[in-house]
Formats: sequence, structure tokens, C-alpha cells
Amino acid sequence: MAFVTNDNLTGLAVERWATAHSSRTAELMTALVRHLHAFTREVSLTEDEWAAAVEWLAAAGRISNDKRQEFILASDVLGLSTLVVQLNNHFSPQATPATVVGPFHIDGSPEVHFGADMSDGLPGIPLFLTGRVLDPDGRPLPDVVLDVWQADADGAYEAQLSDVDEAQLRAKYRTRADGTYCVRTVSPRGYAIPMDGPVGNLVSRTGISPYRPAHVHFLIDHPGHERLVTHLFRQGADYLDSDVVFGTKDELIVSFTERPAGKTPDDGIIDRPYLHAEFNFALQTTGAECTR
Ligand code: BEZ
Ligand code: FE
Repeated sequence: MAFVTNDNLTGLAVERWATAHSSRTAELMTALVRHLHAFTREVSLTEDEWAAAVEWLAAAGRISNDKRQEFILASDVLGLSTLVVQLNNHFSPQATPATVVGPFHIDGSPEVHFGADMSDGLPGIPLFLTGRVLDPDGRPLPDVVLDVWQADADGAYEAQLSDVDEAQLRAKYRTRADGTYCVRTVSPRGYAIPMDGPVGNLVSRTGISPYRPAHVHFLIDHPGHERLVTHLFRQGADYLDSDVVFGTKDELIVSFTERPAGKTPDDGIIDRPYLHAEFNFALQTTGAECTR
């Protein structure tokens, strides 16, 4: 091996990582080395800054556990998560766009019936979300499972609460023969990302707003179709144009329309005014590629 100089160091490190046994690992690692070295040279990184970065990464590791993933949060606020979504979901313009999954999805939510209330008595303004799930030709898809989750009125997800035994503000709904679904919940509010860790610490030392606009999460994984991970955002909500994780898309903003007490969209009765949002999810056939 040649001895190290300023000029040959990057080339030597790239050469070494090019020996990775998998060609994809070699591609990823050599590109990572090139970009890290270029970054370090561009900003003339000091030794103190390097040490602070190492400590920041270690703190992110310490605060992460099976319910909290600080590195996903870091990826989210850097725009990396959204970039990965954009590069990997080549949906046609007719299909519902994907957005970030976020760190709070919990597997195994209970399946509930059409119009069941997933807020289960939690405080808030009742909200019905209704519509159809459609194939790319606009035909309704029966028997599609929609996995739905959202934060409570304080902006906390079940995964962030320690004393919850049953599924809270999360459930699975199945479309009927005509492709329709009906979710009953309470209207979500905007909330700040967790600010008590190294990501929050960094964000608080910038002019970045830590808030996300009010939204409900959906995951639809139906055979023969691309898995869709997306949100519905409330039209007119705060922070739509400053979402800290770059997740908001125009096509996903829906009107939460005020309705009087009386008949509900699932033909029930409610004694209070409520909100109603209507949205059709259009899935992409597996393998059909079209960059948005
Ligand atoms: C969320 O919407 O649940 C979320 C997404 C990214 C970071 C934090 C929260
Ligand atoms: Fe969320």
C-alpha cells in the first residue's frame, strides 16, 4: 500500500472498500467514502466538530429502543426519508402518492368493522374518513385492508405512551364489495416531533419549525398492487407548507367538512356535529413503473 498523503487518501480508501464481496455493497461503500471525504474537505472539518458528531451519533443510539428510533427521525428531518420514498415509489400520476411511514406504526392492529370508532371514546371532534380503494383503471377493489393510525389530541402516538394496554387510535378496516371504506376517529392535530433527543437538540438550534401538519396515516398492502404508505392531511391545517419531515403532498390534502349532528356516513346517528373527509385511494399495479 502507498503511504498516505492528502492527495491519495480518498483514492486509497475507495480502493479498499471496492473489495466488498457483494458488488452492491462495494458500490454503496465506495460512493459513501467519496462523498464523506468530499464533505469533510469542503467544510474543513475540525477535530472538535468530528468529536461532536461522533458524540451526537452515540447519543442517538443511546436514546433509541424498540419504540423509539432516533436515526429514522434524523433521516426524516434531513429529507432523506422522503427522498428514498420518491426514488422507490414510481407511481403513475393517477395513483395516490406515497409519503414517509414515520417511526410510530405498530404491527398487528385489530381489524374492525366498517365505520368502527378507532378513537374509542378519546376526546376530540368526531371525524369520518370515507371513500373507495380503486385499481389503476378506476375499478373499486373489494377486500382491501387499510391499516390506519394517528396521534392523540396531545400529539402522542400509542408507541410513545407507556400505559396503554389496547390498540389506541389505530385499526385495520376492510373495503366492502363496492370498494368503500369508512373510518371513524377524532380529528388529528398538528404536533411537534420528539424534541427531547439529539435530533430535537439540533433542530432547536436552527430556524426549523419542529411541527407536522394534522394528518392520519394509511398503509395499504394489497396483493397484485404496490404497497402504499401514505397520509391524509387536513386542508387549511397549520404547518402544511413547513412539514418538518417534508411529507406533505398536494394530492394528499383533503377537506374536513363540517356536518351537523344526525346521520353519519355509515348510516348511523351522531348527537354532535362532526367532520367528514372523502378520499379515494388509487393503487398502482405491481411492476407498472411511471415516475411522478
Ligand atoms: C409521523 O407522522 O408520525 C412522523 C413522521 C416522521 C417523524 C416523526 C413523526
Ligand atoms: Fe404522524
